[in-house]
Amino acid sequence: MKPSVYVTRAVPEETLAALRAQFDVEVNPDDRVLSRAELMEKVKGRAAVVSLLTDTIDGAVLDAAGPQCRIVANYAVGYNNFDVAAATARGVVLTNTPGVLDNATATHTIALMLAAARRIPEADRYVRSGAWHGWAPLQFIGQDVDGKVLGVAGLGRIGRNVARKARAFDMQIIYTDAVRNEAFEAETGARFVDKATLLAESDFLTLHTPLMPETHHYIGAAELRAMKPNAVLVNASRGPVVMRPRWSRRCGTTRSPRPAWMCTRTSRNWLPAWQRSRTPWWCRTSPRRRGRPGLPWARLLHAT
Ligand SMILES: NC(=O)c1ccc[n+]([C@@H]2O[C@H](COP(=O)([O-])OP(=O)(O)OC[C@H]3O[C@@H](n4cnc5c(N)ncnc54)[C@H](O)[C@@H]3O)[C@@H](O)[C@H]2O)c1
Repeated sequence: MKPSVYVTRAVPEETLAALRAQFDVEVNPDDRVLSRAELMEKVKGRAAVVSLLTDTIDGAVLDAAGPQCRIVANYAVGYNNFDVAAATARGVVLTNTPGVLDNATATHTIALMLAAARRIPEADRYVRSGAWHGWAPLQFIGQDVDGKVLGVAGLGRIGRNVARKARAFDMQIIYTDAVRNEAFEAETGARFVDKATLLAESDFLTLHTPLMPETHHYIGAAELRAMKPNAVLVNASRGPVVMRPRWSRRCGTTRSPRPAWMCTRTSRNWLPAWQRSRTPWWCRTSPRRRGRPGLPWARLLHAT
């Protein structure tokens, strides 16, 4: 009998076919996140689980799966949904997928930067609303990207990929990270700076740190105030790395910088309907790669 594998949400068919060749595979038939109770029920007796970043895999879930469960494979590079200590204590292997989304995520980051700088979502909405009656010199002027300063927080695989792509726009790269990367500095002319300098000097700031206690709310009201008034912030890491905009405003950020918000699908990222209805133009939805409509993204300064 083949070992039993549970996949918590539909993933591309070629991945499932590869799994089915060796395992007895069951896939969540609904395109939605399982509730915790459903997850605990479904993982029972499985030898392995393929999880998504929206599934919290902790000791209780592993206990529900049972001692025969040997591995949980996350369909994501980030693994903030894993309780690594709990898995280690139970001898369960956890895996992630570093590298496979570097280009896709970096390209999407550049797309958000350009969209925010050149005001493409606004212009698109304007045209679709029927309000556009011809070109005018002051319409949707936006701002230049070429030659501007790109700040990268977290110069890992994706951060480096974004920085390399940004060099095509002659952007000057500054970055901060837990570790300095002198080889990358020599390759691209990037400059290692502290967080305060990153905030003060970036025309565009893009976030690529993992979500962990040290990076939770890495950007909040104080950080927004420390940025240039016209800076664009892109959050391509995890939603909670940036404090919610409403919160930030309450904390005293009154000017309106421009967040470009590339959200990821942790449950905390979903804006409730009441908040969606009050969000300004820059906080509308982006049909993100593999995402559903309803994910927030924005221009100023915020994410999630
Ligand atoms: N939005 C998306 O669709 C999407 C897709 C893939 C990955 N991600 C997110 O992007 C993150 C980065 O992915 P990656 O493959 O580049 O990971 P990576 O491990 O290669 O890079 C992360 C970098 O962040 C640095 N870092 C850690 N703590 C830091 C801190 N406190 N301050 C500054 N830098 C710090 C690390 O030293 C490392 O260089 C993932 O953890 C994941 O959450 C998002």
